[in-house]
Amino acid sequence: MVRLNYLKKVTFFSELEESDLKKIVQIGKNQRFLKDKTIFNENTSGERFYIVLSGRIKIFTRSGEKKKTLAILDRGEFFGEMALLDMEPRSASSIALTESELVVIKKQDFRKLLAKYPRISFQIMKTLSQRLRQADKEIEALTFGDVIGRLANTLLEFGKKYGQETQEGLKINMAFSHQDIAEVVGTGREMVSRVLNRFKRLNCITYSNRFIVLTDQNKLKQWVR
Ligand code: CMP
Repeated sequence: MVRLNYLKKVTFFSELEESDLKKIVQIGKNQRFLKDKTIFNENTSGERFYIVLSGRIKIFTRSGEKKKTLAILDRGEFFGEMALLDMEPRSASSIALTESELVVIKKQDFRKLLAKYPRISFQIMKTLSQRLRQADKEIEALTFGDVIGRLANTLLEFGKKYGQETQEGLKINMAFSHQDIAEVVGTGREMVSRVLNRFKRLNCITYSNRFIVLTDQNKLKQWVR
């Protein structure tokens, strides 16, 4: 059974009442996924809802050889709700980027939970609205923006999510390869390398070991549409 104290610390749960948390605890099961383990694939039928207790999960779609990262989810975030709500196949694939511990809830239990506890439904709707907002912004950037602007924006978003203040600047405390970044931005790896080099020459970023450090966020912001 999932530990209650642990759940209380994570964002999605911290806004719920203790009684709601207990319901989730009773219904869910903990499951550990090793790094690089696929949790489910796009277009398969959805049977489970997942909450991230620890680790990091990538949500992505694929078109031929190309991949697009839709989201990277951390502790306290959930996924797998869409197929359980609209009964359509999975809209995207999910994979553990690091070893991860998830709360897994079966489809029928998830639906019962929502029907019975409006506060839990409300929290899920709130998150879905935030994700739609984010997706709308991304559509705008893909439609009207250019790669440089999108990459600058991605670096700033990474800074918000994974940033750690250092003497040099805001260090993105997660190792992303140029390919990882390309899949988030929606471009090729070579283009990412080229633009990162340009940002480096302009003193917007630097590298510390394999980590990117944002040395001038205001300058980066000027590239964002
Ligand atoms: P589902 O369609 O069941 O399976 C894939 C899951 O990825 C989906 O539910 C959502 O939980 C999640 N997902 C899809 N698109 C996004 C997005 N743009 N941002 C965050 N999560 C997403």
